[in-house]
Amino acid sequence: MLNDRSSILSLLETRRSGRPRDLVAPGPDPAELRRILAAAMRTPDHGKLHPWRFVRVRGDQREAFAALLQRAYRIDNSNPGRLEIDAHERFAHQAPELIVALSSPTPDHKIPVWEQELSCGAACMNLCLAAHALGYAAGWVTGWAAYSDAVLAAFGKPPERIAGFIFLGTPGAPLEERLRPNPGEVVSDWPGLVTERS
Ligand SMILES: Cc1cc2nc3c(=O)[nH]c(=O)nc-3n(C[C@H](O)[C@H](O)[C@H](O)COP(=O)(O)O)c2cc1C
Repeated sequence: MLNDRSSILSLLETRRSGRPRDLVAPGPDPAELRRILAAAMRTPDHGKLHPWRFVRVRGDQREAFAALLQRAYRIDNSNPGRLEIDAHERFAHQAPELIVALSSPTPDHKIPVWEQELSCGAACMNLCLAAHALGYAAGWVTGWAAYSDAVLAAFGKPPERIAGFIFLGTPGAPLEERLRPNPGEVVSDWPGLVTERS
């Protein structure tokens, strides 16, 4: 058990995102993907509302996804350039697996939407960690498409929101470490109440 615990900790200590464009085959097989998604379900969830959903975009649907991005982009940009069109095409075809994560809150519930959105973020994080545990990397990105009403309409409807496009695969190159905040910068002891007498 101790070994299990220390290996879980080392997973947390070593997780890194993969850049979606650098993620190559193999991606998780169907059984692994089910495990990854099941791990995402084990997320703190005040009120047991499961305020999140995950939609898989299969490999054979990537061209349709690219077409959706092109159509959605043209709503706000009537005359996109070649570079933008190519970028959407590349975005849609990145990585062997693509999961669209949706925040799916219950409005007007005693559990504030903010807490439900926090739970969605935690579910996405569990998904990324489970992928890492199975030897894959995840790349969680948003960009304009996550805020496009037309893209959302293809996956859900308000008050749902796209929490991210989570690409999964094998890193094509070793993942380099990046600078992390020094815990001293973001962790502190509470100074206590400052009262008039003290
Ligand atoms: C909600 C959310 C949206 C993100 N969107 C983007 C994005 O659009 N583009 C990007 O390069 N990174 C994005 N990131 C950051 C990456 O997922 C990743 O955290 C970052 O590249 C740092 O890598 P690390 O996870 O290894 O620390 C986003 C992260 C979160 C939590």
